[in-house]
Amino acid sequence: MTAQPIEDTRLAQRGARDAWWRDAVVYQVYLRSFADGNGDGVGDFAGLRSRLPYLAELGVDAVWVTPHYVSGGADGGYDVIDYTAVDPDYGTVADVRALVEDAHALGLRVLLDIVPNHTSDRHPWFRRALADPDSPEAARYHFRPASENPPNNWQSMFGGSAWSRTPDGRWYLHLFTPQQPDLNWADPQVADDFDRTLRFWFDLGVDGFRVDVAYGLFKDPEYRDNPGIYSPTLFGHGPEQAMTTNQPQVHDVWRRWRAVGDSYEGGKMLVGEVSLADLDEVGRYARPDELHHAFQFRLLKSDWDARAFADTIGEALAAFDRVGAPAPWVLGNHDKARQVTRYGSLRRARAAALLMLALPGSAYLYAGEELGLPEADVPDADRRDPIFLRSGGKRAGRDGCRIPMPWEALAPGLGFSPAGSAEPWLPVPAEWARHAADLQATDPGSTLSLYRRAIALRSLHPALGSGLASVTRTGDVIRVDLLARHDDPAPVTCWINMGSAAVEVPAHRLLLASSPDVTDPAGGTLTLAPDTAVWTHG
Ligand code: GLC
Repeated sequence: MTAQPIEDTRLAQRGARDAWWRDAVVYQVYLRSFADGNGDGVGDFAGLRSRLPYLAELGVDAVWVTPHYVSGGADGGYDVIDYTAVDPDYGTVADVRALVEDAHALGLRVLLDIVPNHTSDRHPWFRRALADPDSPEAARYHFRPASENPPNNWQSMFGGSAWSRTPDGRWYLHLFTPQQPDLNWADPQVADDFDRTLRFWFDLGVDGFRVDVAYGLFKDPEYRDNPGIYSPTLFGHGPEQAMTTNQPQVHDVWRRWRAVGDSYEGGKMLVGEVSLADLDEVGRYARPDELHHAFQFRLLKSDWDARAFADTIGEALAAFDRVGAPAPWVLGNHDKARQVTRYGSLRRARAAALLMLALPGSAYLYAGEELGLPEADVPDADRRDPIFLRSGGKRAGRDGCRIPMPWEALAPGLGFSPAGSAEPWLPVPAEWARHAADLQATDPGSTLSLYRRAIALRSLHPALGSGLASVTRTGDVIRVDLLARHDDPAPVTCWINMGSAAVEVPAHRLLLASSPDVTDPAGGTLTLAPDTAVWTHG
C-alpha cells in the first residue's frame, strides 16, 4: 500500500514552491492536554480533530502529536508497549486515519512522535527477555550479568543509576525511567521492526515523525564509563556523555529511515530530537540523506540575554548552513518551563516569539504558547512527572507546562472537556479563564492575535522565515536582517530590545510589533521599548 495522494490544492501548491518543511511552522500538540472529546478528563484524537479549525486559522503548516501508542504511562506516553496501536485513552487507529483526512482537508500535515531509544518494560519483547535470558528478545535490550554493583557509571537522565536489576539478578539499561529499558540497536531485528512501524503509519497517510532521543539509540559496545555526568542545566549532551550519546552508527539509522520515507510519493518528513551541545554535531543529523530537521535546544535553554540569543542564532544558522539544512527553531516544548515564566513576563515571551518567527528555517510552537500561558503551579500531590517523583521532589519536573488547554472562558473546566465530564488529568488553574482561546480570538491585542498575524505575514513576505539572515548585536539590542533569496524587493528587519532602556532604531514602515505600545516610525526612526520586538519593512 502506498501513501494516499494529497489532493488538497493548498498542500500541493506549497509542495510545488519548495519542500514544505523547510520553512514550516509546526504546532506541537501534547495529546493528553489538548482537547478531550469523550469526557474522561484526558485529551484524545476526537478532541484534537474538533480543534483542527483553530490550528488552520492560526496558520500553521503541520501538527506534531506527542506519543499516542499503547503505553505503560510511566513517562507521558514515551514508554511504548505497542507501536502500531493507539492507547484507548486517545482513541483508535481509525481515529488517526480520520485525523489525517481532516487535517489534509484543512491544508495541515500530521507528524506523529516515534520512540526508538527504548520501549516500555511492559512491551512483549521485554517481558519475554525477562522470562528467558537466552531468548532472541533478550538480545534486543542491554542486559549485563548479575554483580554487586551496576556495570558502569551511566546515569539516568531522570536521576540515579541507568541500571536496574531484573528479578533474576541481571542488570538492564534504562537511560530514562526503569520502566523504559533501552533497546540494543546492534541487533538487526530492532531496525527491521521499526521499519515496519514507520510503514504502518506512513501507509495510513501520516506525513512524518518527530523522533524521540534521536541522538541516542547506540551505546558504547564495551560499556565503558562515561567521562562525566549529565547535567540538565547544560545546553545538551557533550563529551561527558560520550558512551551513551551520539554514537556514529546512529547516522545509518537516519539514512535508512530517510530512504523509507522517500519511497513514498512526495516523501515523508522526519524531525529528530538532537540534544547535543555542539551545534555542528547537531547539524550532522540533518545532512541531505538523514533527518529533515534536527532540533537544537540551545536557544530554548538560553536565558533572557541578548548576547546568548545572538550568539546562538548566529552559530546555529552557520552550523545548519554547512550541511545545507534549514534551522528548526524552538522556544518551548513539553519538557521545558513555559517562556512567560522562564523569561519573566508575557511581554518578553511575545517579543521572543516575533524573533523566532522571523528567523530563516522552520519554527516549532508548543500548544498554549500562542495563548501566552505561564508555567502552572501544580500541587505536589497532583504531579505525575517521573522527574519530580524520581528526584524526591528536588526537580519540579514538567507537569507545569503540560496543563490542559483553556479553550472557553465561561465553560466548565474552561472547555477542555465536554460539560459534565470527569476532572481533567492535571488541574487547570481557575485564573486561566483570562487566557482562554475564545476570548483571545476576538481581541486584536491578544497573544493569539499576535501569533496569527505573525504567521500570516510569513506567507506574505518571502524574507520572513525563509531568506538569508544577518544577525548583529549592539549591547542588548539584536538586529536580524532578512533577505529573500528570490524576488522580494524589500528586506524585512527584526529588532529585539532585550535590555532595560528604550532605544531608537532606524525604520520606515512597521509591519508588526510584539507590544501594542509601539508607535509607527517617525522621521525614519522608531522607539523600541525594553522587552519588545518589531518587524520593519523598507
Ligand atoms: C524526550 C522526550 C521526553 C521524554 C524522553 C524519554 O526527551 O521529549 O518527554 O521523557 O525523551 O523518552
